[in-house]
This record gives sequence, C-alpha cells and structure tokens, in this order.
Amino acid sequence: MGFLGKVKILEKKVLQDDVFQWIVERPETIETLKPGQFFNFTASSTGYPLLKRPISISYFDEKQIEFTVKVLGTGTEVMSHLAVGDEVEIMGPLGNGFDQGSFHRVLIVGGGIGIAPLKGLLESGNLSVEQTDCILGFRDAPYLLDAFQKCVAHLEVVSENAEGYRKGFVTGPLEEHLNSGVYDMIYSCGPEAMLKQVAKTCNERKVPVQLLMEEKMACGVGACLGCTCKTKSGDFGFKHVRMCKEGPMFYGSEVIFDA
Ligand SMILES: Cc1cc2nc3c(=O)[nH]c(=O)nc-3n(C[C@H](O)[C@H](O)[C@H](O)COP(=O)(O)OP(=O)(O)OC[C@H]3O[C@@H](n4cnc5c(N)ncnc54)[C@H](O)[C@@H]3O)c2cc1C
Ligand code: FES
Repeated sequence: MGFLGKVKILEKKVLQDDVFQWIVERPETIETLKPGQFFNFTASSTGYPLLKRPISISYFDEKQIEFTVKVLGTGTEVMSHLAVGDEVEIMGPLGNGFDQGSFHRVLIVGGGIGIAPLKGLLESGNLSVEQTDCILGFRDAPYLLDAFQKCVAHLEVVSENAEGYRKGFVTGPLEEHLNSGVYDMIYSCGPEAMLKQVAKTCNERKVPVQLLMEEKMACGVGACLGCTCKTKSGDFGFKHVRMCKEGPMFYGSEVIFDA
C-alpha cells in the first residue's frame, strides 16, 4: 500500500559537500518495497518549490529506508538543511523498480548519483556477490565505494578528474567487460548521456540491460504526463510512456533515445 505523510529523519550522513544520506523510519503501512523504486519528497514547508522531488531508495529493511541525495537546485538544497529528528513528507513507493531474477553473471554500471539505487539493488541481497561485478563512474571524487566493494566480486572505478582512478567514462570498461561474453544481465543508472551509450553497447551485443531512467517529474503518479519517455511499441513504431508509472526501469532494447 502507498504512503503519503511525514516520516522522521533518524540518521543523516554527509558524504561530500553536495551529497548526503538520510535514513528515515519506514511507515508500517508500506508492505513491499523494491530496489529501483522511488519516493516523492515535499522539499519545502513554505510551498516553494511547489513540486515534489523524486529520490530513489538506496537501501531499505523492515524498519528503515535510506535515501542518497545530490544537491542540484532549490529542492535538494532545502532538503539538505533538514536534520536528525526533523520530519519530511514523502509519497511512495512509486515506479516499477528493477526486475530481479536468477542470472549467471551480472554487471552493475553506475554513474554519479545514479549509483544510489544500484546500492539499494546490491544491498537487497538478491544478487550473489561472487556472480556480480560493478563499474562506477564519477566526475570528481568517488563516494560509497566501501558499500559497493562488499557486495561485488570485482569493482572498477573511473573518474573524469579525481587522481588515483582510471580516467574517463564507464563506457570504456563496459566494452571490455562485455567482450568477455559472460554477462547475462546489466543494471544501469546514471546521466542520460551515459545510459544512452550503455544501452547502445549492450543492444549491439544483445545483452539485456535494465536502465533506471531519470526525467523531471511533477505528479509522480502518472497523471500529468510530465515525464514521458519514447519506447519502441505502438501502432507507429513508437509510444510515449510515463517514466513515473511504467518506469523508471526500462529495458535498453525498448527505449528510443532522442538523437
Ligand atoms: C525516478 C527518479 C529517481 C531519482 N533518484 C535520485 C536519487 O536517488 N538521488 C538524487 O540525488 N537524485 C535523484 N533524482 C534526481 C532528483 O529528483 C533531482 O536532482 C531533483 O529533483 C532536483 O531538484 P532540485 O529542486 O534540487 O533542482 P532543480 O532546481 O529542479 O534543478 C536543478 C538542476 O537539475 C536538473 N534536474 C532536475 N531534475 C532532474 C532530473 N530528474 N534528472 C536530471 N536533472 C534534473 C535541472 O534541469 C537543473 O539543471 C531522481 C530523479 C528521478 C526522476
Ligand atoms: S510525473 Fe506526472 S505523469 Fe509522471
């Protein structure tokens, strides 16, 4: 059952100047949660910004839900000032979340704050550590590496600017990993340009990839049509679907990225 109401912030961690984590109490009425689902946050008590802000689950258990947030604009800035003991209004869980199954070998590909829902997927315990590898890419200094390291057999980290890591984007290591031919499921989340390239690389090799897509959202429940994504279906070879309702997870083989 969905929940709309206030929850208390139980813990707060600052991971970097502009990245923080909250653990909030899990409302009892939320029976099931799935990695890849998200909640809509009311980011203000004053009415501005008006629209709720979608944030993915980065971990959950019976009692708590964790969110990892990068400060981008007004909404996330307002959220970053809330402290332990404060209450925040949330609505959710929303969206379809990741499909989970039994796979021979899995590759996780995350970029920037897109690593947050992938952490939730790994920490759900549904993927075998020995059969899961991971590539993470950051523009600057990485974060949350310890959390990923303990959930995967092999972790590769790339950064555009930080010293001590392989330089560049996730796409280089992705091609190298896929050339091994061992992966039968890829999970990915990150900036749109990265997801487009990840989808192309996986589609060319016919390796299934689940993409957790991002779009600016308004209602979050499928009513306003403010978050559409183009997919390969329908009478004319394409169809606009709502990321908040039919997504945010789509298979790479079904998404049409704008040129
Ligand atoms: C399903 C979903 C799950 C998400 N999960 C997380 C998460 O776990 N952690 C997290 O930090 N962020 C997540 N986001 C992104 C987050 O919702 C936005 O960063 C946030 O709404 C920005 O709000 P703001 O008021 O701070 O910035 P705004 O003032 O609204 O925007 C600031 C800048 O960010 C850009 N922007 C706004 N929204 C998005 C978006 N959805 N995608 C890309 N760019 C955007 C704007 O174009 C602008 O340049 C998620 C988004 C979606 C759709
Ligand atoms: S945000 Fe309104 S339909 Fe998706």
